[in-house]
Amino acid sequence: MNNIKLDFPILDKKIRDKAITYLDSAASTQKPKQVINSISEFLENSYENVHRGMNSLSIDATDLYEKSRDVAKNFINSSSTNEIIFTRGATDSINIIANSLAEHLKEGDKIVVTELEHHSNYLPWMNLCKKLGLELKIIPISKDGILSEDDIINNCDDSTKVLSLTHMSNVTGQILDIKKIKKSINKDTYVAVDGCQSIAHLKIDVKDLDCDFYSFSSHKLYGPSGIGIMYGKEDILNKLNPPTLGGGMINEVSSNDFSYAMLPNKFEPGTPSIEAAIGFKTAMEYLNNNNYQDYFLNEKKLRSTLIKALREFKDVDIYGSNEDGNATSIVSFNIKNQNFNDIATFLDQYGIMIRGGHHCCQPFMKKLGIPGSCRVSFGIYNDLNDIDHFIESLKKTLKLLQ
Ligand SMILES: Cc1ncc(COP(=O)(O)O)c(C=O)c1O
Repeated sequence: MNNIKLDFPILDKKIRDKAITYLDSAASTQKPKQVINSISEFLENSYENVHRGMNSLSIDATDLYEKSRDVAKNFINSSSTNEIIFTRGATDSINIIANSLAEHLKEGDKIVVTELEHHSNYLPWMNLCKKLGLELKIIPISKDGILSEDDIINNCDDSTKVLSLTHMSNVTGQILDIKKIKKSINKDTYVAVDGCQSIAHLKIDVKDLDCDFYSFSSHKLYGPSGIGIMYGKEDILNKLNPPTLGGGMINEVSSNDFSYAMLPNKFEPGTPSIEAAIGFKTAMEYLNNNNYQDYFLNEKKLRSTLIKALREFKDVDIYGSNEDGNATSIVSFNIKNQNFNDIATFLDQYGIMIRGGHHCCQPFMKKLGIPGSCRVSFGIYNDLNDIDHFIESLKKTLKLLQ
C-alpha cells in the first residue's frame, strides 16, 4: 500500500473479503483520518453554533469556522475572505449565482453553457431562461465528446450576459482554458466556472483565471459532504442580493424592513454545517501538507496508462480526448454489446468501485448516442497497482459476461 493510502482508513477495509480498489473519486473522494478525527474532535470538545453567542464555546467554534474560510481563500488564491461563501455544495453555489443574477438580466440577454455540463450547471440556467424568457445557448461538443474553446469564444457576443461552464468535464476529464476564454470575450459577460472536478486535480488560482464565480464541493476534495464554496469577486457580490433569507445574514430587521449584513454573511442564511466546515479546513490543510500538486501529475499519468491499456481490448469506445489530450484523472468508456451497469456490478465482486451511468450529463450522453458509460476516476491515493487490478478484473468480467 502506498503511503498516502495509509491515511485513508476505508482503503484498508475489505468488502466480501476483497480489498477496496477505489476508482470513483469523481463521484466523491474518500476521507483521510485527519479529516475524520478533526470532525469528531470538534463535536466532542468544542461544538456550539457560530456567530451567535458570546460564550467560550461559540467564540471558539466561530474562530474555527472562520479559519476554514481563510484556508479556502488561500487554497484558491482569492483576495479576501469576503469572496468565500460557504454553501451546501457546488449545486447550491450555482443555484445561488443564477438566482442572484436574475434581477440583473433583461429581455434580449443571452446565457451560454456547454454540452459538457453536469445537470447542476444546466438546470439552474435553463430554469432561469424559461422564467425570464431569455435565450439559453448551448455550445455543442464534437461527436467524440470534445469541446472547442474557440467555439465557446465565437458564440459569445454582446448580448451574452453570463457564460457558465465547467473547468473540467466529469465525463472525460477535459480541461477548458478558462483564462483564454475570459480574455477573449466581452468583459461585461459574467464568467461562472463549475470547479467541482478541477478543484481536486488542478492548482486553482481564481485571480489568474480571472473568473467572476467559481463553485466547488468539499466532498470532491477529500472533505465531508454537505458543504462547498461559492467564490465571487467582491465587487460583484456586493451588487447582488441573496436568493435565500433568514437568520445570520442581516444587519437590522424591523417589522416592515431589513438590511443585509456585510459580506460574506449576507449569503449565508441559517445555521451552516459547522462540523463540515471544520473537516473541510482539515482536508485543505492535509492537501497543502502533502504537496498535493505532485499527485496531480501522477493522476494524469494514470489516465494515459489506463487509456493505453483499454485500447488493447476489442471493441472499446473511449470518449473525449486521447491519452495526450488536455485532460486528467477521468476515463469514460463502453465495450460493444456490454452494458455499463453490468460491468460496474461485476467489477464490484473484485472490490473495484467504478461508476456506471449517465454521470448527470444526459445531454452529453445523448450527443454521443449512448445511455451511459463506465467511468473510472482517480484520486491522490491511486497508483499503477490499481490500474493493473482493474484491467485484470475487467478481463475476467468480460469473460463472465460473454
Ligand atoms: C462537474 C460537476 N459539477 C457539479 C457537480 C455537483 O456537485 P454536488 O453534487 O457536490 O453539488 C458535480 C458532481 O458530480 C460535478 O462533477
